[in-house]
Amino acid sequence: MSQARIENLLAQMTLEEKAGQLNQEPNSIEVDRTLVRRGLVGSVICANSAYAGNDRQARVMASALNELQRVAVEETRLGIPLLLARDVIHGHRAVAPIPLGQAATWNPRLVEEVAATAASEARADGIHWAFTPMIDIARDPRWGRMAEGFGEDPYLASSLAAAAINGYQRAGLDDPKGIVACAKHYVGYGAAEGGRDYNSGEITPHTLENIFLPPFHAAVKAGVATIMAAFLDIDGEPVTGSRRLLKGILRERWGWDGVIICDWGAVAELVKHGVAENLKEAAAMALRAGIDIDMAGQAYRAYLPELVREGALPVSLVDEAVRRVLRLKDACGLFDQPYTDESLATADLPASHRTQVRDMAQQSAVLLKNNGVLPLAKARKNYAVVGPLADPAVKEVWFGTWTIDGLATDMVAFLDAFRQALPDSGVWHALLPDDAVGMVRMCDAVVAVIGESNGRSGEDNAVTDIGLPPGQLDLLRALKRARKPIVAVVAAGRALAVTEVCELADAVLLAFHGGLESGPALADLLVGDAAPSGRLPVSLPVCTGQVPIPYNHKRTGRPVPLRGSRYLDADDQPLFPFGFGLGYTEFRFSATTAEIQGGTVVVRATVDNVGNQDGVAVAQLYIRDEVSSQTRPVRELRGFERFPLPAGESRVVEFSRTPEDLGFRDRDGSLVVEPGEFTFWISPDAASGVGVKLRVD
Ligand code: BGC
Repeated sequence: MSQARIENLLAQMTLEEKAGQLNQEPNSIEVDRTLVRRGLVGSVICANSAYAGNDRQARVMASALNELQRVAVEETRLGIPLLLARDVIHGHRAVAPIPLGQAATWNPRLVEEVAATAASEARADGIHWAFTPMIDIARDPRWGRMAEGFGEDPYLASSLAAAAINGYQRAGLDDPKGIVACAKHYVGYGAAEGGRDYNSGEITPHTLENIFLPPFHAAVKAGVATIMAAFLDIDGEPVTGSRRLLKGILRERWGWDGVIICDWGAVAELVKHGVAENLKEAAAMALRAGIDIDMAGQAYRAYLPELVREGALPVSLVDEAVRRVLRLKDACGLFDQPYTDESLATADLPASHRTQVRDMAQQSAVLLKNNGVLPLAKARKNYAVVGPLADPAVKEVWFGTWTIDGLATDMVAFLDAFRQALPDSGVWHALLPDDAVGMVRMCDAVVAVIGESNGRSGEDNAVTDIGLPPGQLDLLRALKRARKPIVAVVAAGRALAVTEVCELADAVLLAFHGGLESGPALADLLVGDAAPSGRLPVSLPVCTGQVPIPYNHKRTGRPVPLRGSRYLDADDQPLFPFGFGLGYTEFRFSATTAEIQGGTVVVRATVDNVGNQDGVAVAQLYIRDEVSSQTRPVRELRGFERFPLPAGESRVVEFSRTPEDLGFRDRDGSLVVEPGEFTFWISPDAASGVGVKLRVD
């Protein structure tokens, strides 16, 4: 459809129909057909509640969505098709690891492929638009939504944001395998104070520019078609009503012209925030700020026509938003083909989709400790499998938060997968702790499957204690008394504090929530059919009181390890640093070298696989600006490369960076590039490596 046709359509629309295009109704099944017939619905969020991430929902079906679409196309005055949206957060039917686990792969290529698969599955079910990826930086693990994002670092999150968006949108928005992505929640949502969801965020301009905005800038550069505004208020303004953050940064500074949607009911929440007196004022405020679509709030539908008629809002503002929505529908090919081909959805989950999410589940698990017990010997042993999350009856926990289209019937429980992986050994299972403790004494080793349920992370699931849920440490302590090797497999939707677990267990595998293929993937890792290769996308705190403890903190005027910015009752360092992860082999990183070549900085180090097994290394490039006009972090990630390295082999890793790549943003968002001395490290994590200093002018 040409621009002229969009203008032609716009010219025929009543104010009510225009407001309708900006209105997103919830609940695809029960959406009020009379509203659709009157042209008062522009898009639909296929979710039955405001907490769809916590409540399993009915699966979507192309036939039901086609039926709804038919009402819009055939029974409305102008026949404008609906955009159908859903939260496809980490895979659709092939449920991938939670995004925090995806980030632990440090594998943008795989993140892109998994997103492309999710796009094709969801589109085949009739979904045009997915509210994903979530690219909020999360530094406080009390916040349950840390699970849904790519961790604490802006560089890693930016790389993965771009990868995910490429994957979702790669086939084309009008292709049966493509889907509209939505970068969310713009911006600073992870700064919710105390980790309490929806809470206000205290973010300085410097932190906003250097920590929270970069992933969104990467999303815009990757061509994301839509962005969702965050619920919270920052600096005295709810984002939903902030012209400065929405139009000011997204449109005026970055020149981005995609669709901005508010979060569920957030226009109406401007009243609860206390910045609008009523729904009508909230509608005017949100539209002026730049919100194009009102999700599930109905403020636009109820008040935009009246506001324009009264002269309180220029119709041009409404038209601008409607144009964007129509252009998006056009880009999705809906004016030509509004219906989904119902033969595309397959009854069976394709094997290749399963393999892909299994690869990802393997790559997302981070081995934190191993005193040699892993990989487990395969032959003629007896293993006890215990712990609340080993119970096949709760296998769906491993889907993680925000799983609305995964099927338990597609899933193999860890216990069954572990048995299959060890055909020549005995695998014994005890559900109750007292039985477990007795059983362990008869076995060669115990695998304790512990950690968080899916319901302990995700939206509105904050905790004050980021340690293990009740009872689990008691179980480990009791197991320890049997003096048998303990392997702890830990499910997590956040950066859990696993300090005592690491003291009690001989090996600790942090598995996050690995999705559909968690069971087989973990079994492969434990018996050595695959080797762990995940690296932490967040620092793991020693205890709750340490948070926030991101690796990229400032130096302060009194840095530790001298007396200084420290705690009396806990370490000043996290339990494990950002970027950390072991495998079944050992890598040695040489000292880093750096030189200027033709205006760019070339940084190199040699990585040797000095163990006796093949493995996957993740070389991480960190920088530190030694003297700058604003305080900068002790280290900042500025590159990484994940690569296989066979036993006994070595490889030179090289990164080239321009002076601009080493810069930072000032309070207004301008890039500041200052000459001076930098330290460069290529290291296996944020806390190690032998760095080198170099002047960059
Ligand atoms: C969440 C969003 C989600 C939306 C629609 C909100 O409560 O914050 O992440 O996309 O609901 O389900």
